[in-house]
Amino acid sequence: MNKQPKHVAIIMDGNGRWANLQGKLRVKGHQQGARTVRDVVEEATNQGIEYLTLYAFSTDNWSRPKDEVNILMKLLVNSLKKEFSRLVRNNIRLQSIGNLDGLPTPVKDELIYVIKKTKNNTGMILTLALNYGGKEELTEAMKAIAFKVKNSIISPEKVDESTIIEHLYTRNLPAVDLLIRTSGEERISNFLLWHIAYAELYFVKTLWPDFKKEDLRKAIEDYTKRERRFGKTSQQLTS
Ligand code: IPE
Ligand code: IPE
Ligand code: MG
Repeated sequence: MNKQPKHVAIIMDGNGRWANLQGKLRVKGHQQGARTVRDVVEEATNQGIEYLTLYAFSTDNWSRPKDEVNILMKLLVNSLKKEFSRLVRNNIRLQSIGNLDGLPTPVKDELIYVIKKTKNNTGMILTLALNYGGKEELTEAMKAIAFKVKNSIISPEKVDESTIIEHLYTRNLPAVDLLIRTSGEERISNFLLWHIAYAELYFVKTLWPDFKKEDLRKAIEDYTKRERRFGKTSQQLTS
């Protein structure tokens, strides 16, 4: 049996389909999805999860219709404003990963404000992946390392896993223990490529707006029953 996962990451998917099924506009799905975020954050705190990382907007999501992108950005600002006091009350520290400079100024400003105001909180670390792409993250890291090698700041022989980790957006995050994706899609969609190397994957058909605290508890329970072998044999682990 595993202990509780230390780092849970979620690909929150299915907002659009949830709305379609109800004959509503996609925006309704995103609004309901924001409510799910609130519940899941609360439950993760109650479960003693140390790190919760949520995929909120990918670098590829800019390809969606302009109206939808605008609505998502507005919803983000509103949610940050609305949830701020709850984050403080629950001692949660907010941070973000992704390219902040590519976000509209109101989103960036609000995000920086909340990050700053919660930076001394000592509870769960909630990381929002915004304008995030796993390949972009690795590319940026490689570029930064190449630059340091070129300027003799590090020697190429010294480049190891920790060098790479130090140059990722996610440098202060431990490896993902449990990766959840809702909506029945079974793919990674360019999320946390480095940090999911040994993550336990959990796919569930439930659409994100319908995902409940209970569903998070189920995912965690499922995780605790798995055997994480990290290349070893089952026998080695049990003896
Ligand atoms: C997830 O739901 C939210 C974002 C990607 C921002 P979707 O909007 O992808 O919902 P579906 O996949 O179209 O149902
Ligand atoms: C992944 O969901 C991104 C987020 C949840 C923010 P998508 O709905 O964009 O992924 P694909 O396009 O179905 O792979
Ligand atoms: Mg989707």
